[in-house]
Amino acid sequence: MKILVTGGAGFIGSHLVRYLIQHSTHNEIFNLDKLTYAGHLSNLKDVSRNSRYHFIRGDICDARLVTRLTKQVDAIIHCAAETHVDRSIHQATPFLRTNVIGTQTLLEAVRRTAVRRFLQISTDEVYGSISVGRATEETPLRPSNPYSASKAAADLLALSYYKTYGVPVIIVRPCNNFGPYQYPEKMLPLFITNALQGRSLPLYGDGQNVRDWLFVEDHCRALLLLLRKRRELGWKPSVPFPHAFARTLRWFQTESTWWRLIKEAEPAFHRFSKIQYPSLQF
Ligand SMILES: NC(=O)c1ccc[n+]([C@@H]2O[C@H](COP(=O)([O-])OP(=O)(O)OC[C@H]3O[C@@H](n4cnc5c(N)ncnc54)[C@H](O)[C@@H]3O)[C@@H](O)[C@H]2O)c1
Repeated sequence: MKILVTGGAGFIGSHLVRYLIQHSTHNEIFNLDKLTYAGHLSNLKDVSRNSRYHFIRGDICDARLVTRLTKQVDAIIHCAAETHVDRSIHQATPFLRTNVIGTQTLLEAVRRTAVRRFLQISTDEVYGSISVGRATEETPLRPSNPYSASKAAADLLALSYYKTYGVPVIIVRPCNNFGPYQYPEKMLPLFITNALQGRSLPLYGDGQNVRDWLFVEDHCRALLLLLRKRRELGWKPSVPFPHAFARTLRWFQTESTWWRLIKEAEPAFHRFSKIQYPSLQF
């Protein structure tokens, strides 16, 4: 199967590209990524020379490029997005551009082609905070920040393209992912790397908030199942949380060059950290 992965140089996208190549001998992967501050080709150095992997640097808002690529593939897994809630609170416009217009650009291209599956990677954040219990697919959308609002808008566009044009859309709303290669502005890698550096951990609120966590490899396995079946996936997480967390921790301990380059040298990381954590030293 020929699969276009958008945002394949980011955290989840890079795991997915690797997973799709390693778990099939015939998948051919096209990775379309703009390489924003969150995208790193070093995330994929182990597969970059594989003949079934192709990297295209570009923007999902570029209709001509997206149309050309869409004509070449059987399925699309749409991961590309602006993803950091705190950044969206400081500056929402890039979130609306990429997450809403970018998704619509892809959907518009897909409706004119023979693509058999369009997996829209959304987020459980579209449901907002749930004070008791958990969200179901019927829970109303109550996004509470520009990031989640832009993802909810993209989901509604995807549904509208399914209903209006029959675009074969499947929307996935995963909870917080964690694992190797997660950009160190996100909570878990920020806490892990700060702890390794002997720095404080910027906890929001009183520490009583509860989140669900999903190991990124389990997420990738679910996405592959969604490409292959319709229903009755039989999926459940396979890596127990303590193992997944220990593997993640070990990876950040071993691969310190990867995150130190970001934390010590990337202007995008420094600009944001100064605004978000003015009293902390990074
Ligand atoms: N990480 C999580 O915990 C989590 C949880 C739920 C849902 N999601 C969703 O999963 C997807 C992937 O998240 P992630 O954590 O891997 O994100 P990430 O920020 O690590 O990576 C995003 C990637 O998208 C690329 N990108 C951004 N704008 C682009 C554009 N206009 N054109 C092409 N490429 C562009 C970036 O360069 C980067 O490689 C997102 O859609 C996100 O909303 C993530």
